[in-house]
Amino acid sequence: MKQDFRIASLYGMQILDSRGTPTLRACVTLEGGVEAWASVPSGASTGKFEACELRDGGEAYGGKGVLRAAGHIADPIAALLKGQDVRDQQEIDARMRAMDGTEQKSNLGANAMLAVSLACAHAAAAASGLALYRYLGGVHGVTLPVPMMNIFNGGEHAGNNVDIQEFMVMPVGAARFSEALRMGVEVYHALGRLLHARGLSTAVGDEGGYAPNVDNEEQALQLIVEAIEQAGLRPGQDVCIALDAATSDWLQQDRYVFPKKGSSMRAEELLQYFSYLADKYPIVSIEDPLAQDDFEGFAHATRQLGDAIQVVGDDLFVTNTDRLRCGIQAGSANAILIKPNQIGTLSETLEAVRVAVRHGYGTILSHRSGETEDTTIADIAVATNAGQIKTGAPARSERTCKYNRLLAIERMLGDAAIYPGRGILRGK
Ligand code: PGA
Ligand code: ZN
Repeated sequence: MKQDFRIASLYGMQILDSRGTPTLRACVTLEGGVEAWASVPSGASTGKFEACELRDGGEAYGGKGVLRAAGHIADPIAALLKGQDVRDQQEIDARMRAMDGTEQKSNLGANAMLAVSLACAHAAAAASGLALYRYLGGVHGVTLPVPMMNIFNGGEHAGNNVDIQEFMVMPVGAARFSEALRMGVEVYHALGRLLHARGLSTAVGDEGGYAPNVDNEEQALQLIVEAIEQAGLRPGQDVCIALDAATSDWLQQDRYVFPKKGSSMRAEELLQYFSYLADKYPIVSIEDPLAQDDFEGFAHATRQLGDAIQVVGDDLFVTNTDRLRCGIQAGSANAILIKPNQIGTLSETLEAVRVAVRHGYGTILSHRSGETEDTTIADIAVATNAGQIKTGAPARSERTCKYNRLLAIERMLGDAAIYPGRGILRGK
């Protein structure tokens, strides 16, 4: 019945993310009685072109409260969407965008808009009696993503001396997702034992990866290669490595200054350095090797590295289809990180995936460093056949809940499930 899908009421509440910082949850009730909710995450190395995350300012929570954004869900968004059929996702998102009226979604707050947008999709799926991935992807969404598991944290996600933000393992040699997850976990645990044996810290960073002080990036890479071997797996065959350099904040005038080491390089030298690392170690993907404005530099990086490895735009594209189209024109990057909260609605998120796929770009669904127990990105990854997901170490519940959701989806799909494995690799 049509009224079963109509929004009866809608509210927002302030909750906590995995860093103890406030974030938003939206809860929706349909006329047919179905209730659903969704929570939004929050980044630390936030790109300057991201949609606006509305914060309260003032004293409470160091100014990071989201009571104003929560209030916007109650008024005016609830009145705008009352009676709206939640299956009309495009219309829900378009109406919120029109009401907001800004490029960056700064009036209502992209955090408020995304929470509502995702909660509506959950409600539509529940009222249809479908799992979210099936509701969004139909019979077409059957690809479990290759996990990019961030087992060694640096940059703004850790208090150690490592400048590169993320060192991830990608179990491309597995036959199915659950096997990939096991491989990643075994490497993660082997790395923990190695660090312990060498007297290095096994405390973890924001995304659950270890975060010891090391001599340099190469030592981190050597430790990871060793951990892969100790887990009985072949580096470059079973398990490859991906980096997120997250260099946007490094740029000062025309030099990239490593924030912790203090040394600096010109863009060409930095690319040479990444190229050297990619030749020496089984690295198959590098994210944000240059800063968020530099479409030209990214195009150069893609010509230099892109035949062999995946060059990923995160801060460069911010899940924004207009910025992605600029990149496609210029030949900047060959893959895009997809973070729903960078753009602020589900429809625009799905559009970014569609445009990327149409132009042969790789697509990676991604969490943020500040996360919640919400698992929506796992379902979106399968529904869109994105092929890859970046959702942290296989540790800490805000990370493992996404992996656990993918295990559940794999089980639901049964024989229909596809794991792309080495199929997502570029030349290497
Ligand atoms: P963030 O980091 O969530 O802190 O922005 C993730 C990333 O840069 O990919
Ligand atoms: Zn990134």
